[in-house]
Amino acid sequence: MNKIFKEFTFPHGKKVRNKIALAPMTTYSSNDDLTLSNEEEIYYNSRSKNIGMVITAATAVSKNAQAFTNQISIRDGRYLESMKRLATSIKKEGALAILQIHHGGRMNQPDLYPNQDIVSASAVKAKRDYTVQPRALKTSEVYDVIDEFCNATRLAIKAGFDGVEIHGANTYLVQQFFSPHSNKRTDEFGGSLEKRLTFPLKLVDRILALKKELNEKEFIVGYRFSPEELETPGITLNHTVLLIDELASKDIDYLHVSLSNYKQTSVRNTYDLEPIVTKLVKVINKRVPLIGAGSIESNEDVDEALSLGYDLVALGMIAIADKDVVQKLMNNEIPSKEISKASLLPPQLYNRIKSWEGIKKRGYTAK
Ligand SMILES: Cc1cc2nc3c(=O)[nH]c(=O)nc-3n(C[C@H](O)[C@H](O)[C@H](O)COP(=O)(O)O)c2cc1C
Repeated sequence: MNKIFKEFTFPHGKKVRNKIALAPMTTYSSNDDLTLSNEEEIYYNSRSKNIGMVITAATAVSKNAQAFTNQISIRDGRYLESMKRLATSIKKEGALAILQIHHGGRMNQPDLYPNQDIVSASAVKAKRDYTVQPRALKTSEVYDVIDEFCNATRLAIKAGFDGVEIHGANTYLVQQFFSPHSNKRTDEFGGSLEKRLTFPLKLVDRILALKKELNEKEFIVGYRFSPEELETPGITLNHTVLLIDELASKDIDYLHVSLSNYKQTSVRNTYDLEPIVTKLVKVINKRVPLIGAGSIESNEDVDEALSLGYDLVALGMIAIADKDVVQKLMNNEIPSKEISKASLLPPQLYNRIKSWEGIKKRGYTAK
């Protein structure tokens, strides 16, 4: 058990006091001008005690990137003060502050933000009722989107964050470029599997180049990905192995896999009984640390996750329910699964979670 509470050093030298992260979680609670609200500040501060690092909610890199109601923004310098407050609320408790940078692409909802241009790799609608057919980005506009992620990174550095996590998971724009479902392009960004790698890899290269230009040697650059898609065609584990092999050869500080359960097997090929993490660990081959997430809720889960080969773990729902989860794990106590006012959640997050059927199945209660 103690292994998880030991200090860890990221490849470029940044030290973290233990190997537990807060998973990135959208709060739907920014002020109406998309700056950090007081409730969010209180929530982040409460989750930063004892934990190693806090990965923030998906933060929109541009006007067209906004995918959720009241989603915090880092689209330009007007948001710098808001971002400084976010970084400070985390860092003053001794945790590392990692900003998740995000673009929703074709997952953006048409009625959420007026005059939003809903764009993607290609004009293919997602298989979700609330989505619309997006407009395919022109080649020059794809480079503009990469610039937006770089601007967000520059602002994150100015705001005092210890790193950024590229949101390449959960069906959003970065993943849309890698997916055979959403990317039918014929330019350098699409078509074959190799060309579908272009956007994520160029994005990483540009962010790493910026870090170098600014001489930010220890600044963490992480990448979150979803290993499979349910759609046909969709991302398969074979595709992902290729992406991860490429990413692991780059100068990034970590990879972060988004799963509903840290030890799950393939959802596309149910005959394949090898845990996804085992495949990932083989291809990464110790080149970069791997963060695991998905139903990690107890010391037993943490131990098993480490023995499967994850280097760090990220806590989601259990950290929403119990703000003192890390302290409890340290004391070998069982964290609470009761979501209440004492959980110090911003009201919009609390109300949403309360209405989710799925939480009961996982043993959570909300009152
Ligand atoms: C309320 C909520 C918001 C989420 N928002 C994000 C997000 O902004 N970015 C992201 O990559 N994942 C997001 N996720 C997924 C979590 O990071 C995590 O992968 C998932 O909850 C599984 O972990 P868990 O079983 O410990 O909750 C969110 C999950 C929840 C419950």
